[in-house]
Amino acid sequence: MTLRTILHHPDNRLRQKCPDHELFNNDLKALVSDMFETMYFEKGIGLSAIQINIITRVITIDVSKEQNKQLVLVNPIIIEKKEPVLFSEGCLSVPGIYEKVERYNFIRYRAKDINGNEFENNASELLAICIQHEIDHLDGKLFVDYLSDMKRSKIEKGLVKQKRTSSQVKRIDNPYIK
Ligand code: NI
Repeated sequence: MTLRTILHHPDNRLRQKCPDHELFNNDLKALVSDMFETMYFEKGIGLSAIQINIITRVITIDVSKEQNKQLVLVNPIIIEKKEPVLFSEGCLSVPGIYEKVERYNFIRYRAKDINGNEFENNASELLAICIQHEIDHLDGKLFVDYLSDMKRSKIEKGLVKQKRTSSQVKRIDNPYIK
C-alpha cells in the first residue's frame, strides 16, 4: 500500500472525463488499496481515482465513523434520483472549502464491484451525496462548479494564497470531505 498525492484545484488534470475501467486484475486491487489508504489518511469519506491522477472510473467510499464499510464502485452510473436537497460539502481536492450544493437525497445506482460483477443498489443521505460527488469527479467536475462565478473565483484566489502560505494553514478535520 502506498499513500498517493492528491491533486488540488485548480489543476487541469482534475478536468478530464475518465474512460470506463476495463481490467479487473491485481492492478485494480492495488489501486483500490492505495485509494483507501490515502482517503483514510486525508480524513475523507470518498475518493475518485482521478484525484490521484489515475484517469479511470474507479471510486472508493466509506462514510462510516468506524471506517469499516468500504464500498468500491467501478464505472458507476445513477439510474434514479429523487428529493433535491442542499448539502454542505467539501473535497480533498479543494482543501478547506465547504459550501452548500444541491444534490439528491435518494439515488439508485449501478456499478461493477472490484471483481467486475455488476450490481445495483439504493443509497440515501450522506452516502447518496458522496456517490454523486465522486461520479462528478469522473466527469471532470468539482463541487465548486455549482457555485456562482464570483464565489468560485474567490475560492480560487484563496487557494492560490493558501498554497503560498501552506505552512500556516491548518487542516480542518471535517467528516464531509471527499
Ligand atoms: Ni471531491
